Amino acid sequence: MFNKKFFYGRLKSRGLSKSKKFYYDNYKNNYLLDFEKINLIKNKNFILEIGFGLGENLIFQSEKYNEDIFIGVDPFINGIANVIYEAKLKNLNNIYLVNSPIQSILDKFKNNFFSKIFILFPDPWMKKKHNKRRLINNLFLKEILKKMKIQSSLIFVTDDKNYFENVINLIIELKVEKSSFHYSLDNRYEIKDTKYFNKASNLKKEIYFLNLDKLKNVT
Ligand SMILES: C[S@@+](CC[C@H](N)C(=O)[O-])C[C@H]1O[C@@H](n2cnc3c(N)ncnc32)[C@H](O)[C@@H]1O
Repeated sequence: MFNKKFFYGRLKSRGLSKSKKFYYDNYKNNYLLDFEKINLIKNKNFILEIGFGLGENLIFQSEKYNEDIFIGVDPFINGIANVIYEAKLKNLNNIYLVNSPIQSILDKFKNNFFSKIFILFPDPWMKKKHNKRRLINNLFLKEILKKMKIQSSLIFVTDDKNYFENVINLIIELKVEKSSFHYSLDNRYEIKDTKYFNKASNLKKEIYFLNLDKLKNVT
């Protein structure tokens, strides 16, 4: 489906603090996702966050919507350790994590699975020659739509105008192909301020919101 190289970020920044390492080593088995088990669970809403970073929004959402099941996917090990630490301290048992790029594991989820998907401030890869490294492209949109339930939404937030406009164009092109979804540009869902949201706010950058709603199945 996705070809070869698709992850260009950092897997680890600085070393983990002693406490984060302790929590990671001792509790990771409680939080790392077991695909077989998750695909068997019925009558639950599954919410996905791709590239959750330090996990501020993932933790916030899972505390607020404690009946739903949250799945966070990010190869960045410091973020994984941070979420395990916070989830354990807050006694959250509705969070599961995958320590890989989304493209390498997306196919392990059933089609029509997710009720909501967050993608907050994905790496913008601003230089034109790096644009092709961006997470959201035509193939990604087609594949992620398959995994979304009818009536579900993908929420994309960025401070990069070029990335935002590019995603809108991709959606418009897809729309010509299949009238199975629509999009809106309002800030419709409550989202916790993340590290990159705060960075953008401090620099007084404009923040762009996009909701992609799936209306019917994509063939
Ligand atoms: C700019 S940071 C934003 C983090 C967080 N969402 C925020 O708003 O602070 C982008 C995140 O996406 C993750 N990432 C990059 N490529 C990814 C991929 N292919 N699949 C999943 N996560 C990815 C990075 O490891 C990083 O944590």
